[in-house]
Amino acid sequence: KTVAIVGCPFRAGQAKLGVDNGPIHLVEAGLPRQLEELGWKVHFDGHHQFEEIATENDPPIGKLKNPRFVSRVCKAVAKAVGDHAKKGQLPLTLGGDHSLAMGTISGTLDQYPDACVVWVDAHADINTADTTDSGNLHGMPLSFLLGLGEKFEEFSWIKPVLKPERLVYIGLRDVDAGEKRILRENGIKAFSMHEVDKYGIGKVVEMALDHVNPKRERPIHLSFDVDALDPSVAPSTGTPVRGGLTFREGHYICEAMYETGCLVALDIMEVNPSLADPEAVKQTVAVGCSLARSALGETLL
Ligand code: ARG
Ligand code: MN
Ligand code: MN
Ligand code: MN
Repeated sequence: KTVAIVGCPFRAGQAKLGVDNGPIHLVEAGLPRQLEELGWKVHFDGHHQFEEIATENDPPIGKLKNPRFVSRVCKAVAKAVGDHAKKGQLPLTLGGDHSLAMGTISGTLDQYPDACVVWVDAHADINTADTTDSGNLHGMPLSFLLGLGEKFEEFSWIKPVLKPERLVYIGLRDVDAGEKRILRENGIKAFSMHEVDKYGIGKVVEMALDHVNPKRERPIHLSFDVDALDPSVAPSTGTPVRGGLTFREGHYICEAMYETGCLVALDIMEVNPSLADPEAVKQTVAVGCSLARSALGETLL
């Protein structure tokens, strides 16, 4: 069993500086060695270098910011993830901002067309060009993957092959009005923090898997935005929202995904080492590493 680390120092899907350093910190904290200690063969050939498109050469398309740059990077990431998956390796993508999921999930679905997506996040990241307020593409990857909203030539490489019934959310608590409408109209299943409080994380994960993967036979892509965790657990991230998952709830989700035996791809996104004080940064990076370890088989006993 081989895990292929896809380091993506990329931030153009949002406005804050620093999230491009997330993958560098996660690797420097020792993640590759930690995964080796779990018994994985680790393939890591350095962080991906993305040829930049300067903002002045990449004017907004409608409200979308840095559209050409984001599109080109995600296309390259889709290829990297898809190639690793093709070789039977498990791609672990380290972000970078969450717009990268346009690439990672495209790569996964290329190799595993019947895969489902478990999206763990404070946010729904399903705005369309029409509904977005910010114009930040990290708030929009799922609408592209689902084929919702206006189509753009620049993003035409994305095959809208994700079906609404193959997507489930855990941890939501900051969903825009337009996004709520999209979730409702498309019948997309979501377990917000309200459901986590009501049922407990064990039951929520079970219900989430029953929805997207009732027989536990379908490949699973887990896309984990660290802002799903409470800001007291993962402070160094660009769009923190209070009332999030505890340390254990976050790790439980990862452990449960591993236990299915169906996990084929993992994203750890939105660690921003430039935000918060050094202690908080260290804590957030350490949590990013331990989430990855839990999803890749680390157990408590
Ligand atoms: N809904 C907001 C937006 O569209 C926030 C998105 C935050 N996304 C994230 N990946 N942290 O801009
Ligand atoms: Mn590689
Ligand atoms: Mn988020
Ligand atoms: Mn996100």
